[in-house]
This record gives sequence, C-alpha cells and structure tokens, in this order.
Amino acid sequence: MALCDMFEAFGIAAIALAGLTLSPAAAIAQPVPASANPVALAEVSGNWLVVPRRTPDSIAIGGIPRSFRLTVEGGSVTGTFRFNGWDYPIANWVARGDGFAFDLTGKPPFVQMRARPRADGRFMDVWIGDEMLGIAPFLARRVSDSELAAIERDAPRPDTMSKLPLPAPHDVGVRNLAPVPPMGWNSWNVFREAVDDRSVRAMADVMVSSGLRDAGYRYVTIDDGWQGQRDAAGILHPNSKFPDMRGLVDYIHARGMKIGIYSSPGPVTCSGYIGSHGHEAQDAKTFAAWGIDLLKYDWCSASNIYDTKVEMQARYQVMGAALQATGRPIVYSLCQYGLYDVGSWGNAVGGHMWRTGGDSIEGDLWHAVDYRFDHNGNAAHAGPSAWNDADMMLVGIDGLTPEEYRTHYTLWMMAASPIILGNDLRTMTPAVKAIVANPAVIAVGQDRLGIQGQRVAQIGTTEVWSKQLADGATALALFNRGTALAAITVNWRAIGLRAPKRVRDLWRGVDVAPAADYTVEVPRHGAVLLRVS
Ligand code: GLA
Repeated sequence: MALCDMFEAFGIAAIALAGLTLSPAAAIAQPVPASANPVALAEVSGNWLVVPRRTPDSIAIGGIPRSFRLTVEGGSVTGTFRFNGWDYPIANWVARGDGFAFDLTGKPPFVQMRARPRADGRFMDVWIGDEMLGIAPFLARRVSDSELAAIERDAPRPDTMSKLPLPAPHDVGVRNLAPVPPMGWNSWNVFREAVDDRSVRAMADVMVSSGLRDAGYRYVTIDDGWQGQRDAAGILHPNSKFPDMRGLVDYIHARGMKIGIYSSPGPVTCSGYIGSHGHEAQDAKTFAAWGIDLLKYDWCSASNIYDTKVEMQARYQVMGAALQATGRPIVYSLCQYGLYDVGSWGNAVGGHMWRTGGDSIEGDLWHAVDYRFDHNGNAAHAGPSAWNDADMMLVGIDGLTPEEYRTHYTLWMMAASPIILGNDLRTMTPAVKAIVANPAVIAVGQDRLGIQGQRVAQIGTTEVWSKQLADGATALALFNRGTALAAITVNWRAIGLRAPKRVRDLWRGVDVAPAADYTVEVPRHGAVLLRVS
C-alpha cells in the first residue's frame, strides 16, 4: 500500500503529530540506527522534554511543551508522553537492540516509538512511526522535575479540552470571496515555528520586487507558530515574534497584498500552539480587527475530542459563522486533510477551499506530487469559491528536479488548486521564478470558469488531462509519470477537440502544428502544457 493510502487508513492520528514532523506523507523511511552498546533501564528513567529539531527554541516562543515522564518499575518502563496537553500512556515497553520500543495508547491511537538515551545521559533520541508509515526522528532533553514543572507553568494552556455543544447544522451561505483559486505564499514550509514578523515582511517585499505579486500572488499567510497566550478576557495575543500584528497587516496591505493567518478548531494546533476551540467568535473578531483576509483552519487536536463527520462539520461551521459575523471578507481555508468528502460540505460551513490530503512537504516530494494525480478531490465540487486544495507548492524546494517542478505546477493548475508557494522567495532562482510566474500558465489555473481539469486519457504511466477555459479554448496537459522518456500522442478528434486552429505550448512559449495527431516526447516525470483553440 502506498504511503499516503496508509495515511488515509491511519486517519487523523498522523496529522496530530505534524509538529513532530510526522504527518501523512511524513515517512522518513529510515531504519532506527543500531549500536552495540546496551542501555541500562535506569538511564531512561526521568523526564524528557522534546526539543524540536528545526527550531530548538520554539518552546520558549509559544508552543506547548511535549515531554516524556518515564519510571522504571520491576524491570520494565511505564509512563506517559505529554503531547499538546494530552497524556498518552506508554504500553508494551520492550528492550530492543540498544534501545527500547513502546506503544503510545490513547486517542487518537499513536504508532510505535523507539527511544535510545545518548551516552551523555542528557539527551534521548526518539523515533516515532513504523516501517509502513515511516519513522521520524526527534530529540528529547533530560529535565528535572522542577525544570519541567516551571516550563509547564509558564507555557500556554488551552482552557477547553473537552467536547463543546454543537450548533444545529445549517448552511452559513458562502460569500464569493475567492472567485478564482487563491494564489499566495505561506510561511510553513520555509520557517515552520521560527516564523516571525521580520521574515513575513521580507517575503512580502520579495513578492513585490520579484513581480510575483503582479503575477497574481496576493495572499501572504502566517501559518502555525504566531500564537502566544490568551489574556484574562480570553483574547488571544501573538507571541513575542509578532510584536505588532496590526502593523504587520498594514505593511502587507500597503503593498497591495492580503494577509492570511492560521488557527485550529481544536484547543491546540498541530505544532502545539493555542487553537480557537471555544473562542471562535472572539478569535474571528481579533482577526478581523487586525485586518486579516484569510484564515487557514487546521483540524489538528480537534481529533482528540471529536469523532464524527457531523462534529467536524459543526466545529468548522462555528468558525465559518463567526468569520461572517465580523462583517469582514475573510477567505476561509479548511485544512482537514480531505476527510469526510469535505468538498460536499465545505461551502455550507462557509469554506472557500479545502485540502484534499496530507502535507506534501513531509517525506518523499515526488511521491507527494505523484499522489495528487489520483487524489485531487471531487472535480464536481470545484468552482468559484469552492476549491479543492492540493496543498502548498513544492516548487523551489530541494527534493524535486526542474522537470518535476513543472509537472507539479502544471498539475495544480489543471486541477484548479489554490497556488500557495512554500519556497524561500528570497533565494528563488531565475529558473524557479520562470516556472511560478509564467502568465500563460497561470491563466490556465486562474480561468474564471473555475472548472477543475480531469484526466481524459491514460496509457501506462502517461496521461492527458483536459481543462475547459472561459474563452472556449482547452488546456491540455500531457504528463509522463514514468521514469523514462515517453512519447505521448494526442489525437484531437479522439478527445473531442475536432480540428484545432491554434495549439500553443505554454511552457515553451511557441505555437506547434495542429496536425491530426500531435506527438511529443515528454521527459521522465515531465509535463507539456498546451492551449488548444
Ligand atoms: C499541519 C498542516 C500544515 C501546517 C502544520 C502546522 O500539518 O497540514 O500545512 O499548517 O500543520 O503545524
């Protein structure tokens, strides 16, 4: 079974671990390293604070600490893993090689973990996952009872960790705020929890100076990691990395762009920051008062509390209605990994776009792109202000070839997905910019009909996709998902295009001869995008 299929079977649990970099496609399929030195049981006894790998200081800047509390008893180890405010009892502890393996129990059910204290006794390497899902490594630091108590005392604490009453379902009536798929940039892929005011302004500057804004990229979204604590009145304040949110919003608006922000229907976000659970109206008002234009709302820890589709819809509806009640036009981006056929109810809860799967950025990037050929949501649900969101772009991120970048971009355009860049724009190469700022290609994705293109032919690992455009033309994408050069032939008649007058290769920027059969060689993992009129 492919990894992402595994994830779907695994459900929401994997996503809840995203802050530990284990999420749907998170599979870092590497074996746990072995060493010859056996570890004494006593060495694991005590408290261990999880130290994020990419942003080791994030505990200090707003996240909820994650820790192990381990006790050695009768030759075995018991204890809990405290994750985003919940305690997961440890079970089935066994010595394994030079370390230990154990299961985490609780809700949602976690996968297996392995741990190995380092020789200095101060750090413990921990691996979470299994061979099927992939194994993500992270680090834990030994802390004393008093140090852990102090860290937890000063940390943010959600005030509603259990089920809240659900509103009666009703259609909140979506407003047409996203007539074409939103385009922009989001902080998560580049900065994760280290995102701050300065880096967001810097990206906004580059969006202007590089011409990306004028190419259509208008939304600058601050993803997870901006949140601080609620005050006595329940108002959520940014953490110290965002000293002047209103000023930041003004800065983006003054440059002719819009600004997005991130929260969760759960008490805690995927990376352990305070979510909007029970504070939806208050947070919506705060966002509106800041001048926010888009909210990405990520299910995350809501999966610890809510179990059903109806509950999920209701929690999304609460925020959808709250956003509308502010009177400010705020695009509502649902991030619940495509569960429960979200396209069939996303609009009813006020949503304008909804993710169709897990995080592309985790694990093997080509796999994440290739997966979307078959998992793009239901095209019938797509249209103005109703977009199947194939997740943030990987163009410009290490792990894909230039050919794969183009294929990725072409597929997202054909699928009428929102195009939210995830690369570091400050270091974007001219070649990457040429891919993400090609006006003729962008016009395909931004076509005002808002039709989601679909596969019309498939032979082996090659396929042809078609997307109807408003001016009567058809965008045709020829994809080679295979690992060798392949010739792809299009017979216009066979795909219902009769005799085209003009065929333009949009990536090459040249017209090609509209003969009855058009054959083109497409490199491995490559794509050709044609505009047929
Ligand atoms: C989840 C989302 C990501 C990102 C992270 C932040 O994994 O799917 O896009 O927002 O949470 O913690």
